[in-house]
Amino acid sequence: MQHKIIETKVTVFSFDELDSSKQQLINTAKEQVNKAYAPYSGFHVGAAVELENEKVFAASNQENSAYPSGLCAERVAMFYANAQHPDVPVKTIAITAFTKGEFLKNPVTPCGSCRQVLLETEMRFEKDITVLLYGTDEVYQIDNIRELLPLCFEKTSLG
Ligand code: THU
Repeated sequence: MQHKIIETKVTVFSFDELDSSKQQLINTAKEQVNKAYAPYSGFHVGAAVELENEKVFAASNQENSAYPSGLCAERVAMFYANAQHPDVPVKTIAITAFTKGEFLKNPVTPCGSCRQVLLETEMRFEKDITVLLYGTDEVYQIDNIRELLPLCFEKTSLG
């Protein structure tokens, strides 16, 4: 018997330490929380996706009275970007959440389904996607999606 320990590198920044392009992408994600349709959870999420061609696609979560029919902000933004530019890799995604009148203090982390969608795009273009998870107290940077989704299921898993 043996244990395998899986590690994820998370780089922790204060917002002020980030370079201006990352600050700008986070600010774009923050603006999106105002456009969320989240009457059921009251949890407003904003995501901003920057492509390698520097185009930015931003989106928010979209809920539905039939709960599973709604979609997270990250997937709305990723599908929007991939649909508009199917041949352009994603460079960075910034994610933020606002609830009960304030942005979360701790960085918001994407759900498993969103990680799987992000992984597909990272693998498809063989290009790392940087993830910026915004909280008012600190910002997490993760350098690629494989770090976010260890032991993942991907195309090669199909055999
Ligand atoms: N949500 C997101 O948009 N992204 C996340 O990373 C976590 C959850 C949404 C889904 C739902 O509309 C609400 O937040 C509560 O789960």
